[in-house]
Amino acid sequence: MSRTFRDEDADLSVLDDLEIAIIGYGNQGRPQTLNLVDSGVRRIVIGNRDDDYRARAVTDGQEVLDIGDAVERADIVSVLIPDEVHPEVFRDTIVPRLRAGQTLLFGHGYSIYFGLVDLPDDVDVALVAPRMVGDLVRSRFVEGLGCSVLVGVERDASGAAWQRLLAYTRAIGGTRGGAQQTTFEEETVIDLFAEQAFGALLISSMLACYQVLADAGYDPDLIYSELAGSGEMAQVVGLMSRIGVTRQLWHHSMVSNYGQISRAVRLERQGVYEPLKATLDEIRDGSFAREWASEGAAGYPGMHRLHREIRRSGWFEMEDRYVTGSGGDSGHEA
Ligand code: NAI
Repeated sequence: MSRTFRDEDADLSVLDDLEIAIIGYGNQGRPQTLNLVDSGVRRIVIGNRDDDYRARAVTDGQEVLDIGDAVERADIVSVLIPDEVHPEVFRDTIVPRLRAGQTLLFGHGYSIYFGLVDLPDDVDVALVAPRMVGDLVRSRFVEGLGCSVLVGVERDASGAAWQRLLAYTRAIGGTRGGAQQTTFEEETVIDLFAEQAFGALLISSMLACYQVLADAGYDPDLIYSELAGSGEMAQVVGLMSRIGVTRQLWHHSMVSNYGQISRAVRLERQGVYEPLKATLDEIRDGSFAREWASEGAAGYPGMHRLHREIRRSGWFEMEDRYVTGSGGDSGHEA
């Protein structure tokens, strides 16, 4: 069982003599910076390229430098720019400005686990991976709650990597609820697998359920309402997470309880395991990372094509009718 670190395991005063550079002021960079400031950390510099995020940091009253200058000045460098741009930004801007004894913190294990960045041996390499979006990292901190975080050290060149990592994690609110110890491999593989297996199953099963009922001639509006619109299924997933997968079944009628468990076991026996295992293998042997890198290099044509293809499902007619507001690229036509 992995170790859990709490506030009392972390000494915030470790940060008193250290300069922290936050590289990137986006989803995670801004909330983590604001939490650090509210925790009393004073020596913070933002490293950002010249864009709207940089302007936001300036408006917030942060000291902002170019990425290389911030890296050079700092003792702890928290890298919070998208994983896709790590290879280029590390190669051209960060690595040339590193010096021995610095501690590099990553928000996700991807670049290190897949060997996408080449770092000198004399810097610490550590992980502070929030399990939630940046908005929650901030709002939960403001409410006095903790955010869920995974932490790990890949290389402790300075001998102080754990101390620094835990102090930083405490300052962003990560040890309030308990920060769990992990490795770069474990964090990356489990995170990607949850997205590509669990997330993918949710999407494909929703579309398949819709199609089976629509093909049988049932009313699309009612199907949509049953699967998503009413919010019942979302409540079920919430209950699964709060009280457990089988325990929540006893909150349903007996016919629902039996129908769900019997068909779940049948589907499982019909073979969900093997395709999921193949997905795990693709993550672990690096083929998914290579696929994603070539997607990026080509400007993401496969991703845009898949979005266009999947939106041909009748499901999206219902979604467009009932879902108001927009999130991300819904409706995007690239
Ligand atoms: P983001 O997409 O919000 O990053 C925006 C920032 O990156 C901006 O400051 C922008 O100036 C900078 N940036 C973008 N492209 C750049 C480039 N080519 N060169 C230099 N700077 C560039 O990133 P986000 O979502 O905050 O992710 C940061 C890290 O945190 C990633 O490693 C991610 O896996 C991890 N993470 C993110 C979570 C989230 O809530 N989005 C949750 C947990 C971990």
